[in-house]
Amino acid sequence: MDTNVDNRINILLVDDEEGFRQTMAKRLSRRDMVVSQASDGRTCMEILKKTVVDVVILDVKMPGINGIETLKTIKQKYKNKVQVILLTGNAAVNDGIEGIKAGAFDYLTKPVEIDHLENKIRQAHETILFEIQKQKEREYRLNLEKKMINTERLASLGTMSTGIAHEINNPLAIINESAGFMKQVIQSPEMDSFLQKNDLLKGIEKIEKSVKRARKITFQLLGHVKRQEESIGDCNVRALIEETLNLLKKELEDKQINIRWDMDPEKTTIWSDPYKIRQVLMNLLTNAVHATDKNGFITISASIVKDDLILHIKDTGVGIPKEDLSRIFDPFFTTKSFDKGTGLGLFVAHKIVDTLNGDINVESELGKWTCFTVRLPNYTKNGNRTDDIKGR
Ligand SMILES: Nc1ncnc2c1ncn2[C@@H]1O[C@H](COP(=O)(O)OP(=O)(O)OP(=O)(O)O)[C@@H](O)[C@H]1O
Ligand SMILES: [Mg+2]
Repeated sequence: MDTNVDNRINILLVDDEEGFRQTMAKRLSRRDMVVSQASDGRTCMEILKKTVVDVVILDVKMPGINGIETLKTIKQKYKNKVQVILLTGNAAVNDGIEGIKAGAFDYLTKPVEIDHLENKIRQAHETILFEIQKQKEREYRLNLEKKMINTERLASLGTMSTGIAHEINNPLAIINESAGFMKQVIQSPEMDSFLQKNDLLKGIEKIEKSVKRARKITFQLLGHVKRQEESIGDCNVRALIEETLNLLKKELEDKQINIRWDMDPEKTTIWSDPYKIRQVLMNLLTNAVHATDKNGFITISASIVKDDLILHIKDTGVGIPKEDLSRIFDPFFTTKSFDKGTGLGLFVAHKIVDTLNGDINVESELGKWTCFTVRLPNYTKNGNRTDDIKGR
C-alpha cells in the first residue's frame, strides 16, 4: 500500500452497522475527505492492501475479528503509515486504553461528535505527514553521508596516488633507458655467441612491457593534474565527442559499432574546460567501445537542463554486475587483462567531473547495457560560477 501525500485525507470506515457507516461517510466526504467503507476486519485488511488509506476509523465491537485484533494486524503491517482511531461503546473505556497500548492514535466513544472526529482525523494525518518528512530526512542524511564518505575516500586516495605517480616517473624513466641500453648491447654481433641471449632479450621485453603499463598508470593519474594548457571557454561538447570518436575510429570500425546521436547540436555548448571534458569523454567512450560486441550500439545523448549539460553515454555491451557497480570508480579496479586496463579511467573521470562541480553516475543491466550519466555545470561568463571551479 502506498502512502498518500496529497492534501485530501483518505479514510477507511470500519463498522458493522451499515446505517452508521453511511451517515458518517456522507458527513466526512462533505469535509473534503475520501472515504472507503468496510463492514468487518477482514474486508478492512483487503481494502488496505489495495487502496491508499491514511486513517482507519475502527469500531471495537464487531462480529468476527474484533476491532482490537484488527488494530494489531494493521499496526503490525503498516506501522505509522496508517493511523487508527477506535470507536468504543459508552461504557467501554478499557477497550480504548487497550487500543492505545496496541498503537491506536486515539479512541472516541459513541455517539460520535463529528467536529471532534474531524479534529482527531486531521491530527492523526499530521503525524503521518510528520513521519514521512522525518523518513525523507533520514534517507537524505544517509545518502549524503554515504556520498561524503565515498568522495573523501576518493579524494584522499587521489592525493596520495598522484604524489606516488609523480615520484615513480623518474625511476621509471631510468629503468626504461637502462633496459633500452641493455637491449642494444645484447643485440650487438659480439653477443651472438652468448647462449642465453634470447632469454635475456625476453626478460628485457618483459621489463619494457611493465614500464609501459606503469607509465600508462602515471599518465592517467597525472593527466588531470598537469593540464596541457590552462583553458576555460566555450566548449562544444558535441564537437569534443566527435574528436574523441575519431581517435577511437579504428576500434569502432573493427567492431562495426553503430553510433547513435540524440541531441540538438545547437544546444551542446557550455562554458567549461574542454581539456578536462575531453579526457572524461575519452575514458568513458573507450570503456563503451571495449564493452560493446561486434555490431553493437553506442547512443550518445545530450541536453541542457537549467544551467547544466546532461550527457548520457549508453552502450549495448556486456554490462556491469551489481556487486561491481559500487567499485568501478575505485582506483585500480579493473576486470581487464594486464595489458588492456589499469582500472584508472573511471577514477580519473570521476575526479575531473568532481573538480568541475558536476557528477557522474552509472546504471547497468548485466549482459544488456550500461549507461553513464554526466552532469556538467555551465560556468557562465558573467556569473561568478567560473571562480567556483575547484582548484582554479
Ligand atoms: N561501459 C562499460 N561496460 C561494462 N563495464 C564497464 C564499462 N565501463 C567500465 N566498466 C567496468 O569498470 C571497470 C573499471 O573501468 P576503468 O575505466 O576505471 O578501468 P579500465 O577500463 O579497466 O582500465 P583503464 O585504466 O585502461 O581505463 C572496467 O574494468 C570494467 O569492468
Ligand atoms: Mg577504462
